[in-house]
Amino acid sequence: MTQPWWKDAVVYQVYPLSFNDSNGDGIGDLPGIIEKLDYLKELGINVIWLSPIFRSPNDDNGYDVSDYQAIMAEFGTMADFDRLLAEAHARGIRILLDLVLNHTSDEHAWFQESRQSRDNPKSDWYIWRDGKAGGPPNNWESIFSGSAWRYYEDRDQYCLHLFSSKQPDLNWENQDVREALYTMIRWWLDKGVDGFRIDAITHIRKEQGFPDMPNPKGLEVVNATPMHRNVEGIQPYIADLGANTFAHYDIMTVGEAAGVSVDDAPNWVAPEQHKFNMLFQFEQIKLWGSDVDAALNLPALRDTLTRWQKGLEGQGWNALFVENHDIARVVSTWGNAEQYWRESATAIATMYFLMQGTPFIYQGQELGMTNFPFERLDQFDDVAVRNLAAEEMANGWTEADILEQIRNSARDNARTPMQWDSSPNGGFTSGTPWLAVNPNTEWLNAEQQRRDPNSVFAFYQQLIRLRAEHSSLVHGHYDLELPTHDQVYAYTRTGTDDRYLVLTNLSDEPADISACKVDLEAAERLLGNLDDNGQPSTLRPWEARVLRCAD
Ligand code: GLC
Ligand code: CA
Repeated sequence: MTQPWWKDAVVYQVYPLSFNDSNGDGIGDLPGIIEKLDYLKELGINVIWLSPIFRSPNDDNGYDVSDYQAIMAEFGTMADFDRLLAEAHARGIRILLDLVLNHTSDEHAWFQESRQSRDNPKSDWYIWRDGKAGGPPNNWESIFSGSAWRYYEDRDQYCLHLFSSKQPDLNWENQDVREALYTMIRWWLDKGVDGFRIDAITHIRKEQGFPDMPNPKGLEVVNATPMHRNVEGIQPYIADLGANTFAHYDIMTVGEAAGVSVDDAPNWVAPEQHKFNMLFQFEQIKLWGSDVDAALNLPALRDTLTRWQKGLEGQGWNALFVENHDIARVVSTWGNAEQYWRESATAIATMYFLMQGTPFIYQGQELGMTNFPFERLDQFDDVAVRNLAAEEMANGWTEADILEQIRNSARDNARTPMQWDSSPNGGFTSGTPWLAVNPNTEWLNAEQQRRDPNSVFAFYQQLIRLRAEHSSLVHGHYDLELPTHDQVYAYTRTGTDDRYLVLTNLSDEPADISACKVDLEAAERLLGNLDDNGQPSTLRPWEARVLRCAD
């Protein structure tokens, strides 16, 4: 049986604002990405996921689209995009776009029309409701703080926005809306893009009747099924989307799936359905939480990833990831960025990269980029932080309190510019970067690591190569080893005639692994992030090894 190409792919997420600035305005752009394609080729990836590049006023960094069929002015032109696509394809690299279908910008022509009156042709393209008792229609809160409703005088009505007030939600109950989106999607597919990451897609259906929520604030943790996330009745919409678009092309699709449990996941990814190929699940993201320390909880991580590995085996396919533009840098949260920076970056890489699924690397992760040393609130750009800070200031919090709360978890940790070299702006721009470059670019940068055979970058190259050379590391069965070890995440991958053991010590202490069922003496060492010290049954702090089992 031939496997679809995206199972063997390795995806690299580019956050265009922060990747590479070609014209000195301080903002990354499409020509800047073209300049770095050879770097990506050298790393070994074969798919790029571009965070949104569409025309946008950038209230939420492109996740507020004002024209789906035009390029963000700061990023360049459609001709630049066509060139990027052609240059990537010429190198055997495919391109995924980031489809934002739950909402548009309030500056989109559809919204501009919709907001005019209660009876214009697009009046029902967004979610409009009358107020209640002089306030919004219900108590729903925006994921970016405050009420999820914004009042518009022209209609004397409120419009729903689950994200920022400049991101009104589209009304998916309206078939004209869906068809307009499908036409746009097919236009990109006919242009030759290779697939999509689909943004916030579990939010497209809302509980009809719009009742109050019991606990609008706690929706991330407390409400297993809040009224606008994976709501009953969403599947017909997902099926309709797939049938009218994805099903007709040989592409890759990955849905951002907050609120989908592993039991429900096959409804989203079972191969014969033509919905999505894989999901970014959030059970794993919740493990970072909004905890100040957000330290690694090994049993919870192991339990979550194993449930998804076993739950989707034969039912679908997993998207493997530890970073993206919405979460802090993994070496700073789960790793030890001080004492064991290189070791922990490479151990975490080994832990997730060789599971069953398609691995994703977020830009800079392949260098072990770290969180930014934020000291003041004005160093943040993210609308989620700005809204939260305003709300908390109004409640009497001090700047220090707020900083303490968000410093280690804020999304801007992942959004600082890519660190290309040791110059003050990291080689990202010749101008002033839109968000400050991490000062550690002095020693932590691509130029240095490309020359160093022991670098994090070199290790990612080896992981990619290893996965390409051993098909069972992609397709084989996953089984936990040492399932209750309190320092070590270990698993085997078993194919028809070969078996591998992945061993990672995710702690600052040495770990005894002699209880391992695999014959460690007889196994052949394929990769390690430390030298071979001839001690097969002990892992040093943050040591990772990949072995081929003898039996
Ligand atoms: C997704 C994106 C995030 C964005 C939000 C609203 O979660 O990953 O960056 O803010 O959707 O579009
Ligand atoms: Ca630029």
